[in-house]
Amino acid sequence: MHLTAIYPGTFDPITHGHADIVRRASQLFGRIVVAVAESPQKEPSFSLEERVSLARAALSDLGNVEVLGFGNLLASFAREQGAAVILRGLRAISDFEHEFQLAAMNRQLAPEVETMFLTPAEEYSFVSSSLVREIARLGGDVSNFVSPAAVRALTERYADS
Ligand code: COA
Repeated sequence: MHLTAIYPGTFDPITHGHADIVRRASQLFGRIVVAVAESPQKEPSFSLEERVSLARAALSDLGNVEVLGFGNLLASFAREQGAAVILRGLRAISDFEHEFQLAAMNRQLAPEVETMFLTPAEEYSFVSSSLVREIARLGGDVSNFVSPAAVRALTERYADS
């Protein structure tokens, strides 16, 4: 219970699937750092500040969870935060290959940090941020997948498209 786990992602925006993983982890670890990556290569729809703020709003009821942005290597940021564990969600077999590669690379960079995986509730196994953005852009209802704050942010973002 005293360990710190870091849960990295782009969170563009954070979904109920991500939040479900954080909720489960918050029962298992003393401190969770939700680490919002700049991820410039993904050209996120929301700025880093917006993504951090939406994640904070979605997780505000969890006392042992902090949300921080980062722009350096995950392995370095995990060390800076004193994390013993990098946490990732596995939704389906299709996530596995990418996750396996990330975990192996992070182990090379920070051998003392273990990667651990949790699975989200089944009803979120098909949710992804890019699908949510696409549905919102085309005027669909995303309130089953993201927090009310994220629904508002998505509605504003795509109001003119
Ligand atoms: N519920 C819903 N969706 C989930 C999910 C869950 N539990 N877990 C993952 N996803 C989705 C995300 O929404 C995202 O969807 P999208 O691509 O459709 O938008 C997708 O799965 C995976 O994206 P993300 O969580 O952002 O992870 P990523 O694969 O882009 O990896 C980092 C991002 C931040 C972990 C990685 O790029 C990183 O470590 N960056 C820092 C720089 C670094 O250290 N690089 C070297 C790494 S070895």
